[in-house]
Amino acid sequence: MNYADRIIVALDTDSLKEAEGWLKVFGARMKHFKIGSPLFTACGRRAIEMVKKRGGDVFLDLKFHDIPSTVAKAVTSAQKLGVWMLNVHASGGKKMMEAARRAVEDTDPDDRPMVVAVTVLTSMSESDLSSTGINRSLKDQVKHFAALADESGLDGVVASAEEVEIIKQHVGKDFLVVTPGVRPAWADSDDQSRIVTPKKAFELGADYVVIGRPLTQAKDPQAACERLLQELFVQ
Ligand code: C5P
Repeated sequence: MNYADRIIVALDTDSLKEAEGWLKVFGARMKHFKIGSPLFTACGRRAIEMVKKRGGDVFLDLKFHDIPSTVAKAVTSAQKLGVWMLNVHASGGKKMMEAARRAVEDTDPDDRPMVVAVTVLTSMSESDLSSTGINRSLKDQVKHFAALADESGLDGVVASAEEVEIIKQHVGKDFLVVTPGVRPAWADSDDQSRIVTPKKAFELGADYVVIGRPLTQAKDPQAACERLLQELFVQ
């Protein structure tokens, strides 16, 4: 798999038209697109259909976090939309993650979406985490959530690239790690705290990197895309 196929572009907008414009620019080079709460809340399934119609795969980033039966229903609904990947919050606990896993279990393996768990948001720092009442260090908390997600039968986790090595060591190298909070050296960090360059994220072992604003908000998105790929040695 080349690096371009391991980039997930975050379509963070509430406008289907804007998202479609980004797809036109990035879709020639990349195939994975993340639809999160801004776009899904505004446009629903039309956003997913648009990405799929253009040949893209959808990571539905709605970070489900509810009682197990509700999460199971939400996962079933997402799976019916034909998404490639979806996520839940690991802080929902083992029973909730197991319910998410069971909801996709009977699906044909070719159509089964990957289910990953959000560990600690990449916008959070050590002190943000402790202000929520968690006394473990951030790395220990991520490690703990990753092990819990693995025990629950999930495919992987969402974490910062800073935590990839520790997760792979602790849980195993086949356990997927998807890393947002990725910033090329030339881009603004925005509201992200635990940031790493895309190249470094892959060197550290990230399976997929999520990148949004450095591409979508660039003055010249096409040029930003080419610059990013050049840095990753994609011809
Ligand atoms: O624009 P930027 O590259 O910061 O976008 C990162 C995307 O990844 C956003 O859509 C954000 O919601 C998502 N995300 C994140 N941290 C997580 C999980 C998802 O930044 N832990």
